Amino acid sequence: MKLPATRYYGSKRRVVEKIWAALQENHIDFDSMLDLFGGTGIVSYYMAKKGKAVLYNDILSFNCEIATALLQSPKGVFTETRALNLLQRVPGRVYQTIIEDNFEDIYYPREENRLIDTVIQNISFLNDDERASAYYILFQSCMIKRPFNIFHRRNLNLRTSFTKANFGNKTTWEQSFESLFVKFTQELNEFQFAVLPRVEVSNMSALHCDREADLVYIDTPYFREKQSTAITYHNRYHFLEGLMHYEDIPDQINNEKVNREIKFGQNHEFEQRSHYIKDLNDLLSHHQHSIIALSYTSAGFPSIDELCEIIGQYKEQIIVCNLGNHPFALNHNNENRKEVLIIGK
Ligand SMILES: C[S@@+](CC[C@H](N)C(=O)[O-])C[C@H]1O[C@@H](n2cnc3c(N)ncnc32)[C@H](O)[C@@H]1O
Repeated sequence: MKLPATRYYGSKRRVVEKIWAALQENHIDFDSMLDLFGGTGIVSYYMAKKGKAVLYNDILSFNCEIATALLQSPKGVFTETRALNLLQRVPGRVYQTIIEDNFEDIYYPREENRLIDTVIQNISFLNDDERASAYYILFQSCMIKRPFNIFHRRNLNLRTSFTKANFGNKTTWEQSFESLFVKFTQELNEFQFAVLPRVEVSNMSALHCDREADLVYIDTPYFREKQSTAITYHNRYHFLEGLMHYEDIPDQINNEKVNREIKFGQNHEFEQRSHYIKDLNDLLSHHQHSIIALSYTSAGFPSIDELCEIIGQYKEQIIVCNLGNHPFALNHNNENRKEVLIIGK
């Protein structure tokens, strides 16, 4: 199945086909799926394409907009003209300059900060059918322009100090917002559904999500076996989450961090190694009447054996499906990592 590109840490885009195959091979019968840590929405998207009813959830609200754009916004409504108009200041409209004033030399050059200020304020004037699509193209453009697509470091200099014009990443980072907006609008229109599938999107911590489904898909943040300090999803994507609360950004900047992290969306559930097993137990106990499908990688914490033991407290049969090498196996840190799907039924 053709799927939209995702530039997201931990995206299951490259293994979702194998997840589906593993569920089929093990005769897992379900009509509805709850995607509790939905991220890019790619697993939800795949399942919706297969005709399943989908409940998508993620704690970061910018992710929910991306999912809403892909899953709940009808094809063909958001046009290239609409997208390009977002980059223009509307005469008579008063614009704030929050990104330009607070993020000089941090993530983007000044003229791009100004464009982000413009776009985010223009989005607030769009109607419900268009808003998520506009966020989608803005967020994809913001990610593609960042070294490693993330925001946990103040490293604009990586981008600006490259001089070789043909260096791959440099070419990507320097694409104009105009050309990226056209590219992502076309991409979005290609993937949006003409007839909207059965999908609901929610934005809360998985532990507080009281939705139920035949199958509960669990893809929590991962910990490396030997990692001392974990980088959280909030650390990686705080800037995009901040844009969802544009006017309140100045009050929520953590000035103690050189990268001026924005505090919106901070959360500890499933992001702290010391609490992880307790959080997982709470979650599994809540969903013990559903089929459980949990994604994990080997060479992580907890180990696959420990996870099976935990899930075994709630489910009678445990099946461990090996989905092959981690998608980034070429990176030597990932050599021994295997993608695994643990099914509990
Ligand atoms: C490994 S990623 C999921 C990737 C997703 N399956 C995909 O293919 O894009 C983990 C996700 O969990 C979200 N998250 C972190 N803590 C959470 C919590 N307590 N409740 C719900 N979502 C959470 C993060 O924002 C992140 O998107």
